[in-house]
Amino acid sequence: MWLTIIRICMKDTAMIVCLCNRLNDKSVRQAIQTGAQKAEDVHASCGVEVSCGGCLNHIEGMLREIETGDTLRETVAA
Ligand code: FES
Repeated sequence: MWLTIIRICMKDTAMIVCLCNRLNDKSVRQAIQTGAQKAEDVHASCGVEVSCGGCLNHIEGMLREIETGDTLRETVAA
């Protein structure tokens, strides 16, 4: 619940998703919207490589979220 509220409040603030490569959520979303289908595709699209892999689950979650159209706002509004 608190995480959801914090995310809503920070919706216009870029959030670092991949610490190794300093990829933020906006660049990840852009990569997904231009065709990335896996976390590795997102990294390649941004011109970097997966390093530690700590971000992969989060990026896969973003892929599923965008794929299903289940955005945070829709989840909150439901
Ligand atoms: S946090 Fe993304 S590769 Fe390490």
